[in-house]
Amino acid sequence: MTVQTVILLAAGEGTRMKSATPKVLHSVAGRSLLGHVLHAVSQLKPAELRIVVGSGREAVETHISQIAPGAVTVVQEQRNGTGHATQLALAGKAPRGTVLILAGDTPLLTGDSLAQFVAAHTAGNFAASVLTAEHPEPTGYGRIIRDDSDELLRIVEEKDASDDEKIIFEINSGVYAFDGEKLAASIGKLTSSNAQGELYLTDVIGILKSAGESVAAIMIDDFTETLGVNDRVQLAESAAMLRDRINDHWMRAGVTIIDPTTTWIDSTVELSNDVTIHPGSALFGSTKVATGAVIGPRTTLTDCVLKEGASVLESIAIQTVIGEGATVGPFTYLRAGTQLGDATKAGAFVEMKNATVGTGSKVPHLSYVGDATIGEGSNIGAATIFVNYDGVEKHHTTVGDQVRIGSDTMLVAPVTIGDGAYTAAGSVITEDVPAGAIGVGRAKQRNVIGWVLRKRAGSKSAIAAEKKG
Ligand code: UD1
Ligand code: CA
Repeated sequence: MTVQTVILLAAGEGTRMKSATPKVLHSVAGRSLLGHVLHAVSQLKPAELRIVVGSGREAVETHISQIAPGAVTVVQEQRNGTGHATQLALAGKAPRGTVLILAGDTPLLTGDSLAQFVAAHTAGNFAASVLTAEHPEPTGYGRIIRDDSDELLRIVEEKDASDDEKIIFEINSGVYAFDGEKLAASIGKLTSSNAQGELYLTDVIGILKSAGESVAAIMIDDFTETLGVNDRVQLAESAAMLRDRINDHWMRAGVTIIDPTTTWIDSTVELSNDVTIHPGSALFGSTKVATGAVIGPRTTLTDCVLKEGASVLESIAIQTVIGEGATVGPFTYLRAGTQLGDATKAGAFVEMKNATVGTGSKVPHLSYVGDATIGEGSNIGAATIFVNYDGVEKHHTTVGDQVRIGSDTMLVAPVTIGDGAYTAAGSVITEDVPAGAIGVGRAKQRNVIGWVLRKRAGSKSAIAAEKKG
């Protein structure tokens, strides 16, 4: 049941998306529409992959070179229909073996369904097979015309269909398997004498049937897999269906998802069992989460690694590693290059970027930690700012092991705080503090006795002060 060649038709304009981005590049669940189809197709391991591009072709070609570098792109300048696109992909040659043809805008189609379809096509030894579905709202799709003994005769497009044909619920999914040589021998016979004046790939079925070849309509159980995306409403619908499919998969694999309707997990994310995800959370990209981790509510993780038992509450993290048993949040913003060691803490209203925090160290409240290395067992007092930017360049701060940074310290980079050192609260630290020393960088306090009584006489403060004598 191997597929020799896959042809993907993706030259269409996607006009109804009303977008500057080509339709197949819109994404759902962490992959472009085209990326989902390519992912499903990759399960078949085709020897050759040809993708017909046209509208928005440069962007589409760039994307293809990133996600399917082995694919050959074929340019269709004039969109004269799916039959014309196929003619260009074949380039006058007859591929050997089975050719699978499909569109680039069906993100719900699975590799398993494609494999089953190809297996049925191969087992029946058909010249051509079309994947069909019983669709509750068939309007707009090509309809499957069968004869009295239920054998496939031809496909009729909505715009060419008679009233009797329009009430047929079995639709053409746009996925076909062909014997390569028979496809090549009949593709040249297409004409554009139809309502849209295009060359319809669908007509190849009728042509082969009339020539006495055996053709088959193979129906899929779950019609939702065949849903295409033509506008933003359908984009959202397929995103929701993918969300449900992905969440069901992870729940069955032992992940607790408190509210699957508000939990969005990209298809590229990896979770272990006994992870708990609270409502309103989103896990994107290459995020990997180890067992026992707790995420959310209202947390967004992009390309993050969470180790065993880590917890992230009401926070946003991007390209961040969160160590075993580490706690993050609420209201924490961890940016690219943050590495929290085991048993660390990044607390409320803390922002970090390009920062490494050693085992057991804590940044509990209201701090900015940018371009820094913090050793083990250190505590960064509330409202400490790592002053990394001099207005032109970013500089690094190093904090050693078992350091106690006093609250509201400004660590003006580049600067190093030695092991076991302290800083006094409210200090502006511009010079290195040696190991075991305390850095004090602030003006000595003086109290001006009676100042309020003299300068703010009669004010609420002055009256309050007078009452106390
Ligand atoms: C097509 C089928 C229809 C089927 C439906 C399933 C034909 C004639 N009709 O209709 O029976 O029910 O898909 O979704 O094939 N494309 C090109 N070049 C072109 C025209 C289209 O590459 O010149 C590509 C599009 O980018 C798209 C695919 O082919 O990926 C299908 O084209 P589309 O215009 O969406 O066909 P439908 O009218 O939906
Ligand atoms: Ca269409």
